[in-house]
Amino acid sequence: MEHPIIAPSLLAADFGNLQRDVEMVNASAAAWHHIDVMDGLFVPNISYGMPVIQAIARHATKPLDVHLMIVDPDRYTDTFAQLGAYSLTVHYEACTHLHRSLQHIHKAGMKAGVALNPHTPVHLLEDVLEDIDLVCLMSVNPGFGGQQFIPRTYAKIRELRSMIRAQGCGTHIEVDGGVTLENAPALLEAGADVLVAGSTVFRAADPTGTIAELAALPLPQ
Ligand code: DX5
Ligand code: ZN
Repeated sequence: MEHPIIAPSLLAADFGNLQRDVEMVNASAAAWHHIDVMDGLFVPNISYGMPVIQAIARHATKPLDVHLMIVDPDRYTDTFAQLGAYSLTVHYEACTHLHRSLQHIHKAGMKAGVALNPHTPVHLLEDVLEDIDLVCLMSVNPGFGGQQFIPRTYAKIRELRSMIRAQGCGTHIEVDGGVTLENAPALLEAGADVLVAGSTVFRAADPTGTIAELAALPLPQ
């Protein structure tokens, strides 16, 4: 039986105890660390930048899944490669020349991800899908943790899964925003295989146990 990749979002961690929270993820059933970078322009919030990511990277033992919610992300592709990012996800809405951005990410040695805001249809990725390692479907409007899941996401997952099947590529479908223990089974059933979880993990009484529960869910055959 196959299981999903769980990527706890450190945005919901206790920044005063960042090392402790990174080590909790290290010791858990999570496969990736999800790192949210916000610039106060693309989204109305600023999260953290390079010095903090450097500190996270010093303690993290799992791949860093970096989600850039910034304008003109190409400016920082090489910097994130140097910081040790495993995958670098840029927003469709922030890239005028998306194909070139993806080539740049690959050339820098990282997996290339594309995130879609809730209003952006998945079919816009049709001509670039084979160049994408991971599509991040935003199931909330990006910028903040702890928001409510947008149900239309299920239909987007299903449509994207059938596009991936039709093109025979191995692109991951990541869902980001408002993921809970309650909606996770249906998200996987619809075709997602990577779940980002911030509040659900870090606000839980037992974060490690919550990650284990998510990671034990089955992927459909
Ligand atoms: C939102 C970020 C998410 C966020 C998810 O803009 O991209 O990764 O941390 O947080 P939850 O799981 O609390 O919705
Ligand atoms: Zn994110």
